[in-house]
Amino acid sequence: MKALVLVGGFGTRLRPITYEIPKQLIPIAGKPMLYHVLDLLPRDVEEVVLASGYKADVLERFLEANPPGLPVRCVPEAEPLGTGGGMRNAGDGLSDPFLLLNSDVIADVDVAELLAFHEAKGGVGTMTLAEVDDPEPYGVAALDSSDRIERFVEKPKRAEAPSRWINAGLQVWRAEVLDGIPRGRPVSFETEIVPGLLAKGIYGFRSRGFWEDAGTPPRLLRAQRLLFDAGRGGHAPIPKGALGRGPIAFGRNCHAPGASFGPYVTLGDDVTVGAGAHVENAVVMDRVTIGARAVVRDSILGPGVLVADGLRIEGAVLGPGAAV
Ligand code: GTP
Repeated sequence: MKALVLVGGFGTRLRPITYEIPKQLIPIAGKPMLYHVLDLLPRDVEEVVLASGYKADVLERFLEANPPGLPVRCVPEAEPLGTGGGMRNAGDGLSDPFLLLNSDVIADVDVAELLAFHEAKGGVGTMTLAEVDDPEPYGVAALDSSDRIERFVEKPKRAEAPSRWINAGLQVWRAEVLDGIPRGRPVSFETEIVPGLLAKGIYGFRSRGFWEDAGTPPRLLRAQRLLFDAGRGGHAPIPKGALGRGPIAFGRNCHAPGASFGPYVTLGDDVTVGAGAHVENAVVMDRVTIGARAVVRDSILGPGVLVADGLRIEGAVLGPGAAV
């Protein structure tokens, strides 16, 4: 079994962090988002193909320096090709069937069960579906009594959504679907290809585990809380002289005597936090300095951010190197 992971998006909703770092490398619960996605894959996956594009070089260098424990190969796009175009561009030599994953989906899905479901149903594809309160930003499926998808609508108006079951970004497809995607131009798999495949049988695998699309700042922080609560966060020791409460993941070489952390914090490498400062429900990336008595809550701080002494930050997303 091979897996194709879509990692080529711009991550516009996580700007300004994503001006320098691809979304997939933002750490949550102790490691980059992409590595949590790879954790979902069965350990005997033969190869993971990453359909990359935006910041492909940054991603590749990171993967080389931090091998994820599964064989990965990047296939970059010269121009963004969309989800379908990316699948077509990177999809040569995939297995039949293959797994297709979005790179920003934080979920508790049993992939072995998904694969067994796909085989039993015998359709051309199976989409994992998650139930959400507001399906408007997603692809929404209407199912019949045998779990076959009768209708699939991408980003419907809330009142027009056929259900609250949405494409969770974890799918199984027969390799033949790749032949139906035009080459060399941007293609949206969800809007241009999926509707035409419904007649061949696409089934919905309803997942009851947690699910979050970590593509926006509030959802990224929620995804981090879900991972920590599920015990899927890192457990590095708290830096000497610091106080910690609840789940926290520290990087290497952090200095924070007299600072307090938690719950729900990820710190990168080489972070310095001054005495009396407090960090809570946050992602603090490499080389950040937080001044004495400052408070950082519900925020994402990009690499090299500098927070002045005594400053209070709430609900902020600060780009690499920002000084506040
Ligand atoms: P936003 O700009 O914030 O919407 O983020 P995004 O660019 O990642 O878009 P979105 O979350 O809708 O993308 C869903 C998945 O498809 C993510 O895993 C993206 O990395 C991926 N993706 C989006 N566009 C492309 C593309 O042009 N090429 C490839 N290879 N992947 C893409």
